[in-house]
Amino acid sequence: MEPLTKPRLRNRFTEALGIEYPVVQGGMMWVGRAELAAAVSEAGGLGMITALTQPTPADLAAEIARARTLTDKPFGVNLTILPSISPPPYDEYRQVIVDSGVKIVETAGSSPEPHMPTFAAAGIKVIHKCTSVRHALRAEKLGVTAVSIDGFECAGHPGEDDVPGLVLIPAAADALSIPFIASGGFADGRGLAAALTLGADGVNMGTRFMCTTESPISQTVKERIVAASELDTNLIFRSLRNTARVAKNSISDQVVEILSAGGQFPDVQPLVAGARGRKVFENGDLEAGIWSVGLVQGLIRDIPDAGELVRRIVVEAQTVLTERLRLFS
Ligand SMILES: Cc1cc2nc3c(=O)[nH]c(=O)nc-3n(C[C@H](O)[C@H](O)[C@H](O)COP(=O)(O)O)c2cc1C
Repeated sequence: MEPLTKPRLRNRFTEALGIEYPVVQGGMMWVGRAELAAAVSEAGGLGMITALTQPTPADLAAEIARARTLTDKPFGVNLTILPSISPPPYDEYRQVIVDSGVKIVETAGSSPEPHMPTFAAAGIKVIHKCTSVRHALRAEKLGVTAVSIDGFECAGHPGEDDVPGLVLIPAAADALSIPFIASGGFADGRGLAAALTLGADGVNMGTRFMCTTESPISQTVKERIVAASELDTNLIFRSLRNTARVAKNSISDQVVEILSAGGQFPDVQPLVAGARGRKVFENGDLEAGIWSVGLVQGLIRDIPDAGELVRRIVVEAQTVLTERLRLFS
């Protein structure tokens, strides 16, 4: 049910991106498809289609067109650029984004520098996601509209500095002039209230949005996340300086063990293949491969509609902040 009074939460981030609430669904491989992105945007947040989940640039164009049939509100596209032996045709994906008329891009994985001239010329606003204040400052200098800064808690790649949000967010607030959102470990209104209080302009969430009805992954995975605690993740690839936070299972346990014993990437390559992780999401076989999930799974207890989640988070943040403020009266 819609709340009787719809809260307003406007700031420089929502103004810059043309959205209602500073609640962003970050790019997620195999998860960030049209239905989820559109549901988040339709509720006033900012949904993100993940470019590389689409097998070809043409498929990305079709996915963007599909999202447009589901919402008139702004949504973005995540373009993750990671070092790879056989890289995908990044320039072609980028051109599809430009040609589609999408006006918001989330870059991640490496510096957005090579892409900035093209995006700037097309009037596309870039939110660069990174894991350190120094990378955020570099992105600010490159002219991005906003930064999304991922703490050590996050699913996926937390970087190698191991700085959790409680320190990273205020450190970013002190250093940056542009709007920024806090990412990693957010799931509810308490988190949004905390992010705003620490100086961020909003939150970016991955794991929480995996557990929504529009998220296109197996119900078994969603239920596993609800059942899991904050202790049920593994950090893999630490020794390779390419750390990733993934669900604890027999496969990620093996990867940790092999690398801790001095193993190298080829020794774990068959275990960590992307195709195996995809099977987890498609078939619900939780032991098929490695799959990203954050510490925040310990705070996730239901599987709501994504739009309901966005509204609930904003209402709860308002309640939490109002109640806490009373302590000072
Ligand atoms: C299943 C999954 C896949 C992800 N894939 C990507 C990706 O392809 N590109 C990217 O920039 N971030 C990716 N992320 C990271 C999220 O966008 C976000 O930064 C992160 O989940 C925030 O931490 P949280 O999970 O605690 O909310 C992924 C996260 C998850 C859970």
